[in-house]
Amino acid sequence: MYNSKIIGLGKYVPENVVSNDDLSSIMDTSDEWIRERTGIENRRHIKKGDGNSTAIMGYKASIIALKRANIQPKEIDLILFATLSPDYYFPGSGVILQELLNIEACPAMDIRNQCSGFIYALTTADQFIKTGMYKNILVVGSENHSGGLDMSSRGRGVSVIFGDGAGAAILSREENNKKGIQSSFIYSEGKYAKELSLIGPSTNRWVPEILDENDPEDISYFPYMNGQMVFKHAVVRFSEVIQEVLNKNKWSSEDIDLLIPHQANLRISQFIQKKFKLSENQVFNNIMKYGNTTAASIPIALSEAWEQGRINNGSKIVLAAFGSGFTWGSTSVVW
Ligand code: UT7
Repeated sequence: MYNSKIIGLGKYVPENVVSNDDLSSIMDTSDEWIRERTGIENRRHIKKGDGNSTAIMGYKASIIALKRANIQPKEIDLILFATLSPDYYFPGSGVILQELLNIEACPAMDIRNQCSGFIYALTTADQFIKTGMYKNILVVGSENHSGGLDMSSRGRGVSVIFGDGAGAAILSREENNKKGIQSSFIYSEGKYAKELSLIGPSTNRWVPEILDENDPEDISYFPYMNGQMVFKHAVVRFSEVIQEVLNKNKWSSEDIDLLIPHQANLRISQFIQKKFKLSENQVFNNIMKYGNTTAASIPIALSEAWEQGRINNGSKIVLAAFGSGFTWGSTSVVW
């Protein structure tokens, strides 16, 4: 059995910086409220006409990851594309990325697990590498939230949180089983599906139905989040799944060189940091700059941590996520 090693990372965020003050000028919110409740100061939003889409941002992050991995697109055996905001209803963004990369025929699969999407995608990629079926896998998390948010005061509980961006990782076969991905855990609990969801348009609420009703009060096509409930579940599940991965590796908190939590809310990361008695240096946060980019948040953070020299040969890394579904998961990596 092989292990999977991350041999290249890349990230891309749109140039357009949207500050809390920018949002305060279009809805009833404030820099103080957003910073206090979420830690977010800025986020990036795609600007109409800047040429970005979910797949295109994924492409830009992938090109950097491929270059750093020193491999060509044609050496990729599988694309796993994690997103909740695909370019089209169908087909998935994975095939669009495949075309952008000019890869003639390789499987491209979309992973629909929201904030936990990247952990689900890593876990899936790891299985394909372990069995020997594939050697190099491109795993992407990319999100284009901004165009689909309710940017009026009505939507402020959700819209101030989310940002756009993409991250990519190249996983490759590793024969030394002490290196690379050590273990992963993934979970979901569908009874909470609606607590963080976007119901329409969907087969549950087809576009003709929405158009027929022509109801200005209809908010079914904006994301809905029961923030307090999500928060309560997040702190419990993050804690459980981090503990689980530590137990599996026989690691203690002190062994972690870097914990990269999904960037949902700085308060959640701080809660986890305190609970596991981790130092500031052991936890990576960049939600202040980018907001919550759901499936893109972990690969953006991982890439940025690597760029800052916070991940080195032999570093013990823990990745953990929680989000819509509810879904959650964790992965441990020895670099
Ligand atoms: O990535 C997927 C996982 N997502 C998460 O983990 C998110 C988890 N949840 C959260 O992070 C928090 O629940 C939020 C940051 C979303 C909200 O913070 P909260 O402390 O739970 O606020 P709340 O929703 O209970 O609202 C408190 C007050 C309300 O006003 P009243 O009823 O007390 O007068 C809201 O209307 O804050 C108001 N409010 C706002 N005020 C200014 C809600 N959003 C805003 C806003 N600006 N943007």
